[in-house]
Amino acid sequence: MNASVLAASPAAIARAVSYLRAGELVAFPTETVYGLGAAAGNADAVARIFAAKGRPADHPLIVHLPDAARVPEWARAFPEGARALAGKFWPGPLTLILPRTARAADFVTGGQDSVGLRVPSHPVARELLMAFGEGVAAPSANRFGRISPTTARHVADDLGDAVSLILDGGACAVGIESTIVAFVGEAPVLLRPGGISVAELERTLGRPLATRDGRAPRAPGTLPAHYAPRTPAVLVEPAALRAELAQLGERDEDVAVLARTVERPAEFEDAWIRAPADAARFAHDLYANLRALDAANADVILIENVPADDVWLAIRDRLARATRGEDDDRD
Ligand code: TXA
Ligand code: MG
Repeated sequence: MNASVLAASPAAIARAVSYLRAGELVAFPTETVYGLGAAAGNADAVARIFAAKGRPADHPLIVHLPDAARVPEWARAFPEGARALAGKFWPGPLTLILPRTARAADFVTGGQDSVGLRVPSHPVARELLMAFGEGVAAPSANRFGRISPTTARHVADDLGDAVSLILDGGACAVGIESTIVAFVGEAPVLLRPGGISVAELERTLGRPLATRDGRAPRAPGTLPAHYAPRTPAVLVEPAALRAELAQLGERDEDVAVLARTVERPAEFEDAWIRAPADAARFAHDLYANLRALDAANADVILIENVPADDVWLAIRDRLARATRGEDDDRD
């Protein structure tokens, strides 16, 4: 089957809703990345997500809701701090992990006693969620281990044969996945940095956020041997980039480069992308840039590291994961 890609329109939304009701998969744009959606209450539909992505069944999914008023259906506690974040950042690129109700079934939460909830702000996601009227479980619409999609085309390349419909809402504004904050223990914990800075979160919470490495239980030994991107990627500090290039050149390696401040040397002949200098635009372009460099089929991708301050935290996190080839960001 080859998915239809439809520009979002009332007719396209109506078709998407009928697919969701029928237990089929619909890919849709959000402000962060494209999601691979299924009716969150339908076990067979949710199983299709895991099959399409090749994702282990114990990795929990985020349930997308049309508005915060629906939270009590899915979460048995909605602590004050979580309410404050939802009030300030929803609709938007924030996911809250809360103690679940029975409606958040094991097949969505991976058997955990908590559920991830998000109210996205992308107009197409909002229209879809309001028209469907129920929760939509959706991971990023990439195959497990691949780069998250930020255009409808990326989704079609990865999952075109597995979804009934791809709603095209253009390139995602944020470009990296949502910030995830868990409210399951004593203190709120940042599980994944994202489009909202830690400073903004802490200002709203009025307290510091704890951070934790690793987000969800992982099933050791079940991880595939491919990484995102497929070409091995290496992080290099700006001052070391030219020397590293020269060394690789001497070894006759084909190199693809994601630079930010370093200019392309005149003699450099392979793929070279100059990324935007500011963090928001860098994030917006990041996954499309990584896909383009991956497609160059070089021996190695060199990525110029970004600054260490708060606005770059989420990007540093994604770059570190892409270059270490670790499992954490493969969902
Ligand atoms: O921006 C986003 O969050 C996108 C869009 C489509 O909404 N979604 C997304 O989903 O990135 P996914 O499945 O690719 O990543 C969600 C992450 C996973 O690492 C998962 O382990 C974690 O959220 N997660 C979900 N529910 C959780 C829970 N109950 N406890 C801990 N982690 C959870
Ligand atoms: Mg993902």
